[in-house]
Amino acid sequence: MSNLKISKSGHGLGADVQGVDLSKALEPDVLTAIKQAWAEHLVLRISGGRLSDDQLMAFSQNFGPLDLRPVGKAAQNSVPGNHYVTVISNVVENGRPIGGLGNLDAEWHVDMSYNPLPAVASILHAWSIPAAGGNTYFCNMYAALDGLPPDLRARIEGLHLKHDAGHTSVGGLRRGFEEAANVREAPGAEHPMIRTHPVTGRQCLYLGRRQEAYIVGMELAESEALLDEIWAASTRPEYCWEHVWQPHDTVMWDNRCTLHRRDGFPNDQRRIMRRTQIGGDVVER
Ligand code: OGA
Ligand code: MN
Repeated sequence: MSNLKISKSGHGLGADVQGVDLSKALEPDVLTAIKQAWAEHLVLRISGGRLSDDQLMAFSQNFGPLDLRPVGKAAQNSVPGNHYVTVISNVVENGRPIGGLGNLDAEWHVDMSYNPLPAVASILHAWSIPAAGGNTYFCNMYAALDGLPPDLRARIEGLHLKHDAGHTSVGGLRRGFEEAANVREAPGAEHPMIRTHPVTGRQCLYLGRRQEAYIVGMELAESEALLDEIWAASTRPEYCWEHVWQPHDTVMWDNRCTLHRRDGFPNDQRRIMRRTQIGGDVVER
């Protein structure tokens, strides 16, 4: 415990964790401190050495049961023989991408919010990072809710949002899906727009992603206009933190109360990330 150092990012969320070796089992007091810091800061960046997939999985399991890698992605993004680790990368080997998302910009999103039981957390570990670009941004959705003008908040009270399952976070059509005629028809789970975090008991906005989202029961134009207003009010720079990767950083974010997005980067640079996900949880108002 003596070497553990947790320091706030100084931005809208996030903290740096130093002095912990994620390749080994964590002491119970260190784990307790990390869990508390995670509940308080929503995103943790943990510095250290390179982790094997088994070490990344063992660390991740401290926070809940691992999610199986989505079956639709079996051919791509996969680690042979491992059902839990996904690869996020632009590297192409033997004509085949070794991972997902390529080198593209990813818009603000929540991982897997289009599922009935969306993943609680995602944990991303950097094997190789580009010299520039590929930074990941996080946004604090407790702050976003607290900062809404009262009249805007009153307008979303009790409403549910449909979260599109058809597109990836870089905007492409997901394997096995077709373009929907309109967002009302798009496949995906419906969740309350304001949710209560099961650990902290605090309320936050739950927006998923803007693309193909639909506020259940509204006219299309009305839903689009209200979503544009909510999004503009929610992703203000003061609620956010830009994470600039260092090799072997491990970043864990809480999908229940944050959004994230990623900058693109030059495709002649190699970015290789290994990723785990903690299994789903009901979204409760
Ligand atoms: C993800 C994701 C961002 C990044 O893995 O869910 O959005 O920085 N990754 O690669
Ligand atoms: Mn993501």
